Amino acid sequence: MNLITAPLANPLRGEFVPPGDKSISHRALILASLACGESAIDGLLEAEDVKATANACRQLGAEICTDGAITRVRGTGDKGLKAPGQVLDMGNSGTAMRLLAGVLAAQGFNSELTGDDSLRRRPMRRIVEPLSRMGATIETTAAGTAPLRIRGNPALQGIDYHLPVASAQIKSCLLLSGLFASGSTCVSEPQKSRDHTERMLPLFGVPLQPPCCVQGGSHLTAAHVQVPADVSSAAFFLVAAAMVPGSDLLLRDVGINASRDGIIRVMQAMGADLDIHERRMFGEEPVANIRVRYAPGIRGIDIPESWVPSLIDELPAIMVLAAVSSGITRIRGAAELRVKESDRLAVMAQGLETLGVRAKELDDGIDIVGGPVQGGEVDGAGDHRCAMSFCILGQVARSPLAVHGASHVNTSYPTFPDHLLAVGGNLRVQSVVTPAAHADGR
Ligand code: S3P
Repeated sequence: MNLITAPLANPLRGEFVPPGDKSISHRALILASLACGESAIDGLLEAEDVKATANACRQLGAEICTDGAITRVRGTGDKGLKAPGQVLDMGNSGTAMRLLAGVLAAQGFNSELTGDDSLRRRPMRRIVEPLSRMGATIETTAAGTAPLRIRGNPALQGIDYHLPVASAQIKSCLLLSGLFASGSTCVSEPQKSRDHTERMLPLFGVPLQPPCCVQGGSHLTAAHVQVPADVSSAAFFLVAAAMVPGSDLLLRDVGINASRDGIIRVMQAMGADLDIHERRMFGEEPVANIRVRYAPGIRGIDIPESWVPSLIDELPAIMVLAAVSSGITRIRGAAELRVKESDRLAVMAQGLETLGVRAKELDDGIDIVGGPVQGGEVDGAGDHRCAMSFCILGQVARSPLAVHGASHVNTSYPTFPDHLLAVGGNLRVQSVVTPAAHADGR
């Protein structure tokens, strides 16, 4: 699939609820699958990544069905997971693979996790190493990547582990494993990463002991989870409205957890007009409605390194805003972008340069000089967030822009094209017939 955009003559206007938070959706499905009884998840994200987690949970014995906006999960209860009959395919989702690896390492059966080409290139030693210290046996490729062949060990030992990088996936993987280990499992990190697992565990009846520890042998009970709209998906529209003259959008029920709200802080520092109101809680997660209006005079800033974990997934969208702002935006301390669904520093730098924006790629960041943006063709590199970011940039480019390889938008935000069109954006979805699909008559 290619997404073709053209320069926009009109402002973006309207209001909507962006799709459910992807991180919270994965966690809700996994914890509900481990719990005793039937959980209800309100507003679960319907997208490929979360479907991969749901499918895996089903293969491990959970019963999952949808009932309008509610997803009902009958959990397997204490020691109730069953061996999957086949290899578990996590598709494009690093979160699904790393979190489930933590659970599966502690079971009384073997399992294997794989994924698509992108996921099979992503680093897995970061979880295999601490899990091995707990007594797990996990085989990877020589490069430390998936497939992960897990020899289940129900006798893991809790650990006290300091993460080498701020990563909620590593942290959550270990906390989930720790639920089944003997003693307590404690994690600490160099900077605070998203804390959805810590907030959700008590909902399922598992207290978290300070600073960040779980006790092995904990018993999970069914819960009701209300999933906020994903600030990472809202990010594309926050940026779009900030830069398209005359725009005024209202995004409702957006998660504003402090471990995820870096984009709001960065946009405000760049001079964007954001009004955050109706602050309330969805369970343990803070949400708000965010009104964003076009602001002339958006300016580049130096993004503080300490903010990076709280906006790591929004950096491609922030780079787009930087491309149209005055002055230079400097991003540092973001080497983790190189091991996401694509090497996001390289993909964004190349795409921006193709469109006439000066972007200097560094080992751990990028410098972007704002200026006029040309149209042309860019490669979304099979990375949902890069593809959507380029589509947003296309709204203010001087001529049409084609984003190739954009089908991965379905990873996190299948309704992105619909939402952009509904608020007045300019976008055309072009299906690409591959030779194989053609031969099959598909
Ligand atoms: C996620 C954590 C982050 C983030 C990813 C989702 C999660 O990854 O980039 O999209 O749900 O835990 P890391 O833990 O690798 O930083």
